[in-house]
Amino acid sequence: MRRKVIAGNWKMNNNLPESENLISKLISGLSTGKNNCDVIICPPFTSLSLAASLIKGSQIKLGAQNMYYEESGAFTGEVSASMLKSAGCEYVILGHSERRTIFGEKDEQINKKIKKALSSGLKPIFCVGETLEEREIGVTNDIIKRQVNEGLSGLSEKDLDTIIIAYEPVWAIGTGKTATPAQAQEVHSFIRSLISGLFSPASAEKMIIQYGGSVKPDNAKELLSQKDIDGALVGGACLKAESFIGIIEAA
Ligand code: PGA
Repeated sequence: MRRKVIAGNWKMNNNLPESENLISKLISGLSTGKNNCDVIICPPFTSLSLAASLIKGSQIKLGAQNMYYEESGAFTGEVSASMLKSAGCEYVILGHSERRTIFGEKDEQINKKIKKALSSGLKPIFCVGETLEEREIGVTNDIIKRQVNEGLSGLSEKDLDTIIIAYEPVWAIGTGKTATPAQAQEVHSFIRSLISGLFSPASAEKMIIQYGGSVKPDNAKELLSQKDIDGALVGGACLKAESFIGIIEAA
């Protein structure tokens, strides 16, 4: 049985007081409820060290939303893997569709980031997903295959133990349109078959594959009960403690 992993991607939301407020509510809400999943929050860079100190002793783990693949140097505006580690991060989201579409990140750069994260002891949450246009012209599987092949290129089977894949159809992100459980399950099972072919059936079986795209407390249960859906990467609904906890409890 794979464990369920629920991650909250705060995106560009919450300054320091707002971060403190949300984390305090999450900690008090989670300590009273019963859940047995892994919970990760991914605040903006500026809130990471504060978050790291607030979550000590709770079940919440910390992730960042992006990083650069170089060690250090003249890369204005970028943040390195070792900076994230020293701020208390265990995870890092890489290849999110907003990074791909708004900031022009390509598969090759994402692959470099994944390698750097792994060699620095960070666990990547590697995002893949097709746009609406790609789904409509019937190339969803081709796109997912390219993103998975190139993103994971050059990795070993052992590396896969510390990677989470998040399937996030771009058309479902922040739009209120969720993939149906059947649509999501179909792509998740396709991703698992790709991992099996690229690495091994055993690594495919262990791989945690999250679904992301308008996950809410009222659709989480059905999505998360699909055979190949092992968790959720949550955007909008993780900004309110009640709805993020609602998703965690549904899992
Ligand atoms: P959403 O975002 O839940 O607001 O759709 C998901 C994501 O982008 O990770």
